[in-house]
Amino acid sequence: MDEITVSLLNRGNRAETESLFDLHRVAQVEEHVEIARKAEGPAERVKMADDSLSNNLVNPAVAYFVAKDAAGNMIGYAELYCPADSDEAWLDDLFVVPPARGHNLAQKLMAAAENQAVSLGKGVLMASTHRRNLSTQAANKRFGFTELSEDEDGLIDYRKSLSRL
Ligand SMILES: CC(C)(COP(=O)(O)OP(=O)(O)OC[C@H]1O[C@@H](n2cnc3c(N)ncnc32)[C@H](O)[C@@H]1OP(=O)(O)O)[C@@H](O)C(=O)NCCC(=O)NCCS
Repeated sequence: MDEITVSLLNRGNRAETESLFDLHRVAQVEEHVEIARKAEGPAERVKMADDSLSNNLVNPAVAYFVAKDAAGNMIGYAELYCPADSDEAWLDDLFVVPPARGHNLAQKLMAAAENQAVSLGKGVLMASTHRRNLSTQAANKRFGFTELSEDEDGLIDYRKSLSRL
């Protein structure tokens, strides 16, 4: 895949923010419902996805990195949570649209998120995924995460030590 750019979301750009809402719905509704087999219906999931993104967009501890193709279409994103009072950062969401998968895009998004966490002084990156989400599990292992525990809902936590600056 040529000419892919990864950058911090420009929250002041309405078109860019709307593209993230669209992509976030696909990730949270289509993919997540399929994987985690959530009880809520699609309309409820869309509302939950939009509400969580709206809240995160006004939270200075949350950063979004977005990947765009040569035509400017948003084709992936990573959500990073860096609470001020913790040594840990959380990679809360990592998503690439199906046609763009397998071209190291997640790796680029992950690197951008990791750099940001390091630059904010974090020593640990955490992540979590469902046991049915095989692509994310494989990517997490490839990115150097260690698998921790799995809870009763099938959510697996991952941990990665970061090299400090
Ligand atoms: C996980 C995901 C982000 C990977 O995106 P990607 O751009 O295809 O990943 P990359 O090309 O950067 O691959 C990174 C590594 O992940 C691993 N990997 C990714 N997808 C894989 C798959 N389906 N099977 C096995 N390994 C896979 C590979 O080891 C790969 O490294 P390699 O090519 O050097 O072997 C993407 O498959 C995705 O969005 N899946 C859905 C995630 C989801 O459900 N999100 C919503 C709920 S949070």
